[in-house]
Amino acid sequence: MSDAYRKGHAWHPLALQNQALPKDRFGLVDWAQALRKGVIQPKSSIRPGDGEPPGLDLDVVIPTKSDFLDDVIFPHSIHTWWLGCDSCHPKHFVPARGANPMSMREMIQGRHCGACHNKVAFPLTDCTRCHAKPKSRAAK
Ligand code: HEC
Ligand code: HEC
Ligand code: HEC
Repeated sequence: MSDAYRKGHAWHPLALQNQALPKDRFGLVDWAQALRKGVIQPKSSIRPGDGEPPGLDLDVVIPTKSDFLDDVIFPHSIHTWWLGCDSCHPKHFVPARGANPMSMREMIQGRHCGACHNKVAFPLTDCTRCHAKPKSRAAK
């Protein structure tokens, strides 16, 4: 196992490997799939009396500066199934399309998407889960 491979996995719970949870292509637990399939039903808060906040079904396309990668789709839906708006706004992202210049270097250092991805959410090595929207080839 190379260092890069281990770092990409960060502290992801490999101990859960053998449970009946769906896995991603790295063999890590695919929490998004688990939720969609109803294998888990997480609560958004442990405080009794806190209701379930309404989700937000809004995909934001983040065009990529890269010539060879697809644009990024940021889905609010899956994020707001687990996270309140204030987990991201305004600390990690100004809530306005295109208002957050980002680079992968900063993400690897834990900023922007990297505040969670590579830590508690699927790793930054899984490029195409974020870079998922084919660039329009016509533009140029
Ligand atoms: C968690 C989501 C996510 C993952 C996983 C991810 N990216 Fe990105 N990436 C982004 C976002 C958001 C941007 C910002 C859009 C832009 O400015 O290009 C970006 C930008 C980029 C850029 C252009 C800016 C820069 O830093 O040079 C490149 C190149 C890039 N990503 C490559 C990759 C590669 C290669 C992988 C896999 C090893 C990857 N990305 C995985 C979300 C992600
Ligand atoms: C996991 C992080 C995260 C969470 C949680 C989150 N957002 Fe966002 N939000 C983003 C990102 C990333 C963008 C895109 C910013 C960009 O394009 O630079 C965005 C953009 C927006 C925008 C601008 C959309 C547009 O078209 O300009 C609004 C409005 C917004 N969010 C509202 C909310 C609300 C309301 C909630 C809670 C219900 C929420 N967000 C939860 C990350 C998050
Ligand atoms: C506050 C924490 C947080 C931030 C910041 C964050 N995410 Fe996530 N993201 C999660 C969690 C938690 C999940 C669900 C667990 C998982 O899939 O590993 C998730 C899931 C996703 C998924 C769903 C994958 C699927 O299979 O449906 C995509 C795509 C994604 N994130 C992209 C992004 C992008 C792009 C950014 C930055 C613009 C970002 N996320 C920022 C926490 C975050």
